[in-house]
Amino acid sequence: MNSKARITAIGSYVPNKIMSNDDLEKIVDTSDEWIVQRTGMKERRIAAENEFTSTLCIRAVNDLIKRYGVNIQDVDMIIVPTTTSDFAIPSTASMIQDAFGIPEAGAIDVNAACAGLTYGLHLANCLITSGLHRKVLVIAGETLSKVTDYTDRTSCVLFGDGAGAMLVEYDAEQPSFLSYIQDTKGSSGKHLYRTALRNEWYGEPLRDSEKMVQNGREVYKWATRTVPEGMEKLLEQANIKMKDLNWFVPHSANLRMIESICEKKGFPIEKVLTSMVYYGNTSSASIVLALDLAVKDGRVTQDDVLLLIGFGGGFTYTGLIVKWGVPSNIKE
Ligand code: ACO
Repeated sequence: MNSKARITAIGSYVPNKIMSNDDLEKIVDTSDEWIVQRTGMKERRIAAENEFTSTLCIRAVNDLIKRYGVNIQDVDMIIVPTTTSDFAIPSTASMIQDAFGIPEAGAIDVNAACAGLTYGLHLANCLITSGLHRKVLVIAGETLSKVTDYTDRTSCVLFGDGAGAMLVEYDAEQPSFLSYIQDTKGSSGKHLYRTALRNEWYGEPLRDSEKMVQNGREVYKWATRTVPEGMEKLLEQANIKMKDLNWFVPHSANLRMIESICEKKGFPIEKVLTSMVYYGNTSSASIVLALDLAVKDGRVTQDDVLLLIGFGGGFTYTGLIVKWGVPSNIKE
């Protein structure tokens, strides 16, 4: 891949309120033991009533600016991967443009469910490598607690809130992007949805729900088959051996699923970065949150080679191999 784009900064934010497995035991018929065993999750963060996706995204960008001292006034495109925009119109990206007063930026939201962050990074790389853009902000944020059905024990234990921001800039000398794959199985849309204008799926009635509805088994089967295939394709394309990867960062849907993927590929679980144990499944934000936890504690350092795969509703997935381009010694 002939990329001319480098990831140069990262920031994140999660709400203060913690919802533990014990808290969930008081709401639905579940147990800490069941949740930990099936998902690996212990806690998730919950946005306050007056905190929305834009609020979390703005705080993630502030964190990025504070830690790396970067100027974002010359950002020329703002991409917000999210499934929980504050409004249907305007986009959350345009609210971020306003919050920072960025003078000449494009602003779009991208809905690719849990594959949002990897799609956002891919788009940023394409825009910059094409020569049409120089500096792109990708901010993945979710307030899933606002669309979670807290009477449905099969899904409410999974989801949490959070946001993460990444800056991607023109750099033909030290590009971050080494390989890319994508695939979509649109026929499976009914297995993970939230209704909007329609409540039937090609003539088949759906549960009319503004809350998340999922068939967990179908998601599990699809992800544990496609992610290992995707890893193989990415490595082949980048001409990299699995042992040369520093880190694997899959969407943090649940730990059991990730363990099964690693087992299939013979990939060491110690080299996997996740965010679900303390943040739950934060959909499009999960990969950037996992990365930032590891950047902050020094596990991820400049020039590390990372394999990222986002997968989810659609069903759709995107994967990238990236060389971590963020210097470790800046204002951390
Ligand atoms: N607490 C206790 N018992 C529960 C709970 C709960 N929270 N949820 C379900 N159960 C019960 C069920 O009622 C069922 O009981 P029964 O046998 O008496 O009917 C039993 O546990 C097994 O239920 P399953 O739904 O078959 O549970 P499964 O083993 O498939 O685990 C899970 C459910 C964790 C959701 C699993 O399917 C999974 O990991 N799926 C992946 C989906 C996922 O991660 N989705 C996130 C969104 S999509 C994404 O991010 C890509």
